[in-house]
Amino acid sequence: MSIFIIKLYFTRVFCYTSLMKITVVGTGYVGVVTAAVFAKLGNQVWGLDVDERKISALKLGQIPFFEPGLAELVKGQLKKGKLKFTTDYSCVVSSEVVFICVGTPPKKNGDYDLTFIYQSAKQVAMRIKKYTLVVIKSTVPPTTGKKVEEIIKAETQLPFDVASCPEFLREGSAVWDSFHPARIVIGTESKKAKELLAKLHQPIKATRVFCDVVSAQLTKYAANAFLATKISFINSIAFLCDKIGADIQKVSEGLGLDPRIGRSFLQAGLGYGGSCFPKDTWALISFAKRQNYDFAFLQQVDQINKSQIDYFVQKVERLLAGNVRGKTISILGLSFKPETDDIREARSLPIIAKLLQKGAKIQVTDPKAINNAKKVLTKVKFFQSPYEALKGSEALLLITDWDHYAKLDFSKIKKLMKRPIVIDGRNFLPAQKLKKLGFTYEGIGTR
Ligand SMILES: NC(=O)c1ccc[n+]([C@@H]2O[C@H](COP(=O)([O-])OP(=O)(O)OC[C@H]3O[C@@H](n4cnc5c(N)ncnc54)[C@H](O)[C@@H]3O)[C@@H](O)[C@H]2O)c1
Repeated sequence: MSIFIIKLYFTRVFCYTSLMKITVVGTGYVGVVTAAVFAKLGNQVWGLDVDERKISALKLGQIPFFEPGLAELVKGQLKKGKLKFTTDYSCVVSSEVVFICVGTPPKKNGDYDLTFIYQSAKQVAMRIKKYTLVVIKSTVPPTTGKKVEEIIKAETQLPFDVASCPEFLREGSAVWDSFHPARIVIGTESKKAKELLAKLHQPIKATRVFCDVVSAQLTKYAANAFLATKISFINSIAFLCDKIGADIQKVSEGLGLDPRIGRSFLQAGLGYGGSCFPKDTWALISFAKRQNYDFAFLQQVDQINKSQIDYFVQKVERLLAGNVRGKTISILGLSFKPETDDIREARSLPIIAKLLQKGAKIQVTDPKAINNAKKVLTKVKFFQSPYEALKGSEALLLITDWDHYAKLDFSKIKKLMKRPIVIDGRNFLPAQKLKKLGFTYEGIGTR
């Protein structure tokens, strides 16, 4: 009898804490991961997108981008019937919680574009049939919560709340990050919304930060701006290292071992790219301007990041006797970081553009990002194999630190290349080994 009661208790607790009907709007990197993770935790989840091709692929368990572990997770939940995909907003009708995970891309001038947020909020609002909690997971300026609330209010008399749960996952380890986040930030002023979100996240172990919507949204911008700052800071120190012959690897180590500073994001290199850091620093600068605050400090962080490209290209020119015209140069790595096929704001793109402009012939390779790169790069030769990409080349440029690039057969590469020059944009390749083999090696701020 007592076992029965205990069983019943746990069944009830589980049902009460986990089983919710959820819609996740936007099935990009954040949306698919969010949908699959909440399905895995026992909820009934709809993944919704306006992109029919994406949804058709997802229905078959095909992920439209590369993210380790995600395909297995999605397929498992599709099979269990916990996760479904659709282009039809009517799934909102039965959902208690709707996560908005649509893109918030930058405009050409760096300002933020919230069109997709407002469009999706309106579509959601039109389907609300009972109390619904709308949670903004996309990275948005802190005043967006209010605007979304107004959009929903204009469409429905029914009760609803707007909350914010900013996403901190990293592409390349998104699934792990979602199950093991460093913290969960829950922004809402509503008691009911707070309870719902606390219950929904209950199975995930992490410190919770409960706050209001604007603070939650500002936390996300502040986090990315701070990480970007660390990167630009260490790149400035690396610049000085190059000037005076100091070694940035040692400086970073000595710096990062101070627990007040920490070791992460102190790797000098080509600077930050990707769909978040550049966009979010620009957005915070724009947002601050709207509040009549000139965020000059962050503008400088962005400027240093931009100038890192020119600094690298100058290195390439110097090592190629001052001129790259007519010379074949090989690019190892196109994605903005390893373990992803995402090339948004990837450092490879402006570097290649500048070298092409200066008359270089470019051969590129990447284990995952070639298909995406083919959509934007036209005047380069693509190779799946790094060895093929290095044939007849006068310089190897390491742009993305994919693990296996450090383990390549460099004796073989030396024979394949026309001139053994390596310029390592991530201070990642085995420098001493390369020098011993007779390569001219240069990193960023290294000896
Ligand atoms: N990618 C990351 O690593 C990451 C990490 C944390 C936060 N974020 C933030 O999360 C948000 C989403 O990022 P992402 O990388 O997943 O974007 P993404 O571009 O990969 O995906 C966005 C999806 O939204 C869909 N969409 C657009 N308008 C829609 C609408 N009206 N209704 C339904 N779907 C719609 C698009 O078709 C697309 O599939 C952004 O604000 C981003 O800054 C991203």
